[in-house]
Amino acid sequence: MVHKNKPIVLTGDRPSGPLHLGHYVGSLAQRLVLQDTCTQFVMVADVQALTDNFDHPEKIRKHVFEVMCDYLAIGLDPQKTTFFIQSLTPEIAELTLIYLNLVTVERLKRNPTIKTEIAHKGYGKNVSAGFLIYPVNQAADITCVRATLVPVGEDQLPIIEQTNEIIRSFNRIYQRHIFSEVQGLISQIPRLPGTEGKNKMSKSLGNAIFLSDTADEIKKKVMSMYTDPSHLRVDDPGKIEGNTVFTYLDAFDPDPAEVARLKAHYQKGGLGDVTVKKRLIDVLEAFIGPIRTRRQQLMCEQEYVKKILLEGTARTRTIVAQTMCDVKEVMHLDY
Ligand code: TRP
Repeated sequence: MVHKNKPIVLTGDRPSGPLHLGHYVGSLAQRLVLQDTCTQFVMVADVQALTDNFDHPEKIRKHVFEVMCDYLAIGLDPQKTTFFIQSLTPEIAELTLIYLNLVTVERLKRNPTIKTEIAHKGYGKNVSAGFLIYPVNQAADITCVRATLVPVGEDQLPIIEQTNEIIRSFNRIYQRHIFSEVQGLISQIPRLPGTEGKNKMSKSLGNAIFLSDTADEIKKKVMSMYTDPSHLRVDDPGKIEGNTVFTYLDAFDPDPAEVARLKAHYQKGGLGDVTVKKRLIDVLEAFIGPIRTRRQQLMCEQEYVKKILLEGTARTRTIVAQTMCDVKEVMHLDY
């Protein structure tokens, strides 16, 4: 599975809810391309998901399966991508403990991604140690398969930076080049705002369109989307900048020339919000409809989906075992 001259890619998601269009634009679309050119691992990060859901383990369990169905439904192919589950790869926990010695508590508290999340979740001083160290756990996710490319959303870049600090410290302290530095791959498509047009799309903010949404849900969400608040009458000139409906058309409409024409018309005046929204409903339904159908089939094939995850985990662990051998050797832990 691991080809000598193909770059190794690792990425993953916390299984805390179904995946949405923000995930698609931010990372899933890239994975579809990378599975043809790289050796790609996609990890279901159930252990990381528990860092902020430790009191709802049943929720994480349910979404492991849902997220796998999302992956397969969008076209990630188990022949090309190796899927694995974090909790069944205990070497990651072992490697995390080793890395924790290379990171200061102050450095953990300074990580901008973590700071923002602590503020959003209202943890304050009560943040758990498990949550605070999840970037170190993520460094272990990435390095255990010796990945060098990590497709992530922009908000994850500080975690990549911290991973590289750990890699540099490890190689320097144990005096062997065990790990190569990694590179975060940011999506080419601009980040998708939520339907209210302000924040990034996120399940917890209630502004997401899911890959599993029904045609009716898509319609309702698009009809309530943020446009240009000063575009009151159809004949008024409208603004494109910050107009969420056009942002989504830019991301998903297969006919950019038509979108350009609609934009010009909207800016000039004479094009109503409802007309543009109707186009977006059709565009999103054409995109999500086939995904939804495949997803529904997969949801009825639990055993098949589970088998993909377990077989992928077994394959991953043979690679991780080699990494652990190298790590233990340089650390004089090779008894
Ligand atoms: N932190 C990522 C997120 O919240 C999920 C994740 C866990 C991940 N481990 C990873 C992403 C390793 C990339 C590489 O979306």
